[in-house]
Amino acid sequence: MKIAVLNGSPKGEISVTVQYIKFIQKKFPQHELKLINVAHDIIKLEKNDGLFNSVIDEVRQSDGVIWAFPLYVFLVCSQYKRFIEMITEKGARDAFAGKYVTVLSTSIHFFDNTAHNYMHGICDDLDMKYVEPFSADMDDLMVENMRRVLLKWADNFFKAIENRAPAMKLYSPVIRAKFAYKPGKGAGKVDNGGLKVRVLADITDEKSNLAKMVQRFSESFKADIQVIRAGDVKMRGGCLGCMECAFDNICVYQGKDEFIDYFNAGRDADVTIFAGEIVDRFFSARMKMFWDRSFFNGHIPTSMNKQVGFIVSGPLSQVANLQEIINAMPQMGGGNLAGVVSDECADSGQIDKLLEAFAAKCVDNAGSIYMLPRTFLGVGGHKIFRDQIWARLSFPFTADYRYYEEHGLFDFPQQDTRYLEFSKQMTEMIKDPKMKEMVRKMIKTEMLKGYAKMVETK
Ligand SMILES: Cc1cc2nc3c(=O)[nH]c(=O)nc-3n(C[C@H](O)[C@H](O)[C@H](O)COP(=O)(O)O)c2cc1C
Repeated sequence: MKIAVLNGSPKGEISVTVQYIKFIQKKFPQHELKLINVAHDIIKLEKNDGLFNSVIDEVRQSDGVIWAFPLYVFLVCSQYKRFIEMITEKGARDAFAGKYVTVLSTSIHFFDNTAHNYMHGICDDLDMKYVEPFSADMDDLMVENMRRVLLKWADNFFKAIENRAPAMKLYSPVIRAKFAYKPGKGAGKVDNGGLKVRVLADITDEKSNLAKMVQRFSESFKADIQVIRAGDVKMRGGCLGCMECAFDNICVYQGKDEFIDYFNAGRDADVTIFAGEIVDRFFSARMKMFWDRSFFNGHIPTSMNKQVGFIVSGPLSQVANLQEIINAMPQMGGGNLAGVVSDECADSGQIDKLLEAFAAKCVDNAGSIYMLPRTFLGVGGHKIFRDQIWARLSFPFTADYRYYEEHGLFDFPQQDTRYLEFSKQMTEMIKDPKMKEMVRKMIKTEMLKGYAKMVETK
């Protein structure tokens, strides 16, 4: 059989993910795994329709497709996302329809779930026959048992194609309502005083709902806020994944395009708003490029104790995966999600009110450094980064290591001596069966003692 492997690594074949494909190819010589470097070659594919069509022909002639990619910031890299967008823009969806498909990613398992959810949704949108994916830790290929599972997974995929296995869709199509937002005039009541409010707006059409929402949001404030058009920031391309930034946070694009200046100018913003339209099941590839390129800053939180919000045009309620990413992103940056406003209610007056209230909330939160507790997304995400930077990623990510050490982010529970000593004493105590029985009966009330003290405090 012939399998089209769409490589989503900007590094082309000098890629960890590709080694997994090469390993599978070696073990299944009866099948041809045709590797196509779509992320690496995205600029050429964008400009050259002949080249793009030759990739689509490979897909058309294949028996199945593997989307093989590294995780990049909750999703696939911006170059790969752009390729996905081009499939629809250039009218090539029919080449994918009805094909068996699977997904292979490599990562450190930081939000591999959201990337996989996204790709599953895209495959369903393309009317493909989706077969169980494989989310590899980037080093799984070095682990004997994982190599065994990987080969079984690949075999399962080949057999699914041979046997015309039944496939099921999991994601309903995203339906976009036709609604033109007609904003009222903003009253400029929200006093932003000395606070710096910065909006990154992915506006491509001045008459769009998004453009009008950003305008209306700006008009809610007394003093001017900063609105940066994503298209105005000159960027030569997406993150290359070269990791040359890892020692000192210096990007290979520094001095060659405008991204680093844009990024650095936003470091002192009290409120950062991302404004974008939903394109397929995420924001646009252009917007994704901003988040990927921020990786030159490594795993260092960028919005510590700051407010972050989103203005979204499109059917956000239908894309739960994007909601999860929106929730997680500020938490991972050390910030607080001040709010999300979309145009989905299709009621101009209501959107005016939502934007006005959102502006007020951003200012109020920023003024009182209001940081809601992190959820599982932020707490779990931090632990993954912490553990990785402590050991596996301590080289080459030496800048991250220094930052984590200096800012107490290596907060391993080994330091929690109060809990550790208490547990040790109690475990010792309940070795006596009588004590064990007594403690068992006291757990519920004893547990509350510390809390009760706080409740009683004036
Ligand atoms: C810009 C960038 C962003 C990344 N984002 C994530 C991420 O969100 N989650 C994760 O688990 N790994 C992330 N990684 C790690 C890569 O997914 C991982 O190293 C992968 O194996 C690289 O594969 P490749 O060599 O095929 O490009 C990121 C790496 C880079 C360079």
